[in-house]
Amino acid sequence: MVKDVKKQIRQLRGEIREHDYLYYVLNQPKISDHQYDKLFAELKELEQANPQFITPDSPTQRVSERPLEGFTSIRHSVPMLSMDNTYNAEELRAFDERVRKQLGSEDYDYVVELKIDGLAISLRYERGQLVTAATRGDGEVGDDVTANVRTIKAIPLVLFGDGKIPDVLEVRGEVYMPTTSFIELNRLRAEAGEPAFANPRNAAAGSLKLLDAKITAARNLSFFAYATGELSEPLAANHYQTLEKFKKLGLPVNPKIKRAKNIDEVINICLSWTERHSKLNYHIDGMVIKINRFDQRDVLGATGRAPRWCISYKFPAERAETIVESIDVQVGKSGILTPVANLTAVQLSGTAVKRASLHNFDELNRLNVGVGDTVVIEKAGEIIPQVIEVKAKAAVNVPFEVPTQCPICGSAVARDEEGVYIRCLNPDCLGQLKERLKYFAGRGQMDIEHLGDALIGQLVDTGLVRDLADLYKLKKSDLIGLDRMGEKSADNVIKAIRKSEKRALARIIAGLGIRHIGGQSAQILSEHFGTFPAFMAASEEELANIDQVGPTMARSIREYFNKQMDLLRELLKYLNPPPKTQRTDKLEGVTIVVTGTLENFTRQQAEQAIRQAGGKAPSSVSKKTDFVLAGKEAGSKLDKAQKLGVTVINEKQFLEMLVTKGEQ
Ligand code: IVH
Repeated sequence: MVKDVKKQIRQLRGEIREHDYLYYVLNQPKISDHQYDKLFAELKELEQANPQFITPDSPTQRVSERPLEGFTSIRHSVPMLSMDNTYNAEELRAFDERVRKQLGSEDYDYVVELKIDGLAISLRYERGQLVTAATRGDGEVGDDVTANVRTIKAIPLVLFGDGKIPDVLEVRGEVYMPTTSFIELNRLRAEAGEPAFANPRNAAAGSLKLLDAKITAARNLSFFAYATGELSEPLAANHYQTLEKFKKLGLPVNPKIKRAKNIDEVINICLSWTERHSKLNYHIDGMVIKINRFDQRDVLGATGRAPRWCISYKFPAERAETIVESIDVQVGKSGILTPVANLTAVQLSGTAVKRASLHNFDELNRLNVGVGDTVVIEKAGEIIPQVIEVKAKAAVNVPFEVPTQCPICGSAVARDEEGVYIRCLNPDCLGQLKERLKYFAGRGQMDIEHLGDALIGQLVDTGLVRDLADLYKLKKSDLIGLDRMGEKSADNVIKAIRKSEKRALARIIAGLGIRHIGGQSAQILSEHFGTFPAFMAASEEELANIDQVGPTMARSIREYFNKQMDLLRELLKYLNPPPKTQRTDKLEGVTIVVTGTLENFTRQQAEQAIRQAGGKAPSSVSKKTDFVLAGKEAGSKLDKAQKLGVTVINEKQFLEMLVTKGEQ
């Protein structure tokens, strides 16, 4: 009898999983909602009567009853990289040229995908069961959002397949909110007097960061799988096959994915989606073009934060018409005054736009923009919307006065050397400070969560923070008592600040907001200097001699040092970036395959270290392999190395090779 119940439960679960798959993954339901609900109720009843048989992988167990206290972190075993962008056919061809050059005479093909505008997530399956789900975070460490991700019906809790699933299989993809669900959610929020989400991506991100999975479950999120992370054994030899495998395992793969034999085919696919992507029921902001074969991806490798084997193609900016309601003057982080138009809200590229930059006062004059005018606005990529032209002047013309004082601190302003920008000359202007803090804490820089604009405003206005380093002196007790700041929120802010102390050097350099130094230059500087003190000690001459830095940046950095050395010394007391290995030739001509779990590196980091030392780090073992670096639980690659007689080294030996010569 008991055995029968167990069997019945197993069978019902199997049926429900199959129907979930048909409905949520294939979009081809075979039974009515009513029939499905009946099956589900039957399973629930049986489980309630026999709770000893309830297992976490049961379809009834997607939504956890208890809300979380907070999110813990998960370190990605293989980092989640970002992607370089292109904006036109010419840039796509240039990408293809670089690929061709690096792959020599070899043939290669592409896979072209939609660039889903959601939230990247890494799902970890162990022996076919979903064990964790993490957000991308900074690419190295993300938030554990397992409880919320389990509520997404398109994501299987158990993979299909007859035992032929790698023990560890990390699946990466995008969680998104279908447009219809987004519109419905905002309608409900408006009814309830809650603020609307600006776009489906924010709605998806907000829904995944809820502590109560019951609310997430009601948000109708979905998922497309597009890559693997850690794998205990290879799933396939190329990307297209991987996606085919995904489908067999019951994972949702976007049905529009196409193979392309050459860059012309890639461009055609990209252009055709430029015309029709707005008809999809999910938002996409471009296309992703990937080299298909994994061995070729290995050869191409990665630069900084992005692989060389893939590129995104961003759709051209969309435009919309709206009315200028008023014009404000904002003070930027280096004191530049920028006129900003407040607009009647309008939908643009999936976002509700209420403000647009007018760049500077010359531009404002050139455009001849005034309050009440109808204007055309445009949004390009991640950049804030801009006013392109005036479509119709207002009936009554209100001339705009160019400011003669800083709107925040009232100090004198002056045109700068190039004569375009007007700057607030007060180095202690609190408006500038707020912007510097916002930039420092921003996603591309120190990525300090919970430190939003409103809180930064309060920290500065109350005098708690007078420079960047003051952030690191904040205590929980300083925060409690600020607006909307309870115990829990204060804890979260302090934790996020602590977490940022370990950010990479490139992020710190970028976060300082030195003129002419953006993310890319910061990366180059960080690779050159390796440590914060070495960077601080750099002379103008040394800086100017670095490839891709040059005299303008060098002068700007030295000017910054001259003014801000005290601040840098203060920051140095708190910030503790991980040491960076510098490019050397220690492993010139040496091929090392990395396998298993290492203690000090993720596999990708070890491979990067090998490449930085001039070596090669392919993913499979062959006769050409010089060494196999084997960590714990090394599997088939280790077997193969032993079979081929390739020397196997451990992590300690590897570390020694990085500092001595690559010979044994
Ligand atoms: S592949 C190394 N494929 O785009 C990059 N990413 O701008 C591996 N994204 O963080 C990602 N659709 O969130 C890939 N079909 C797709 C994608 C996709 C959307 C997102 C992803 C990533 C971001 C990079």
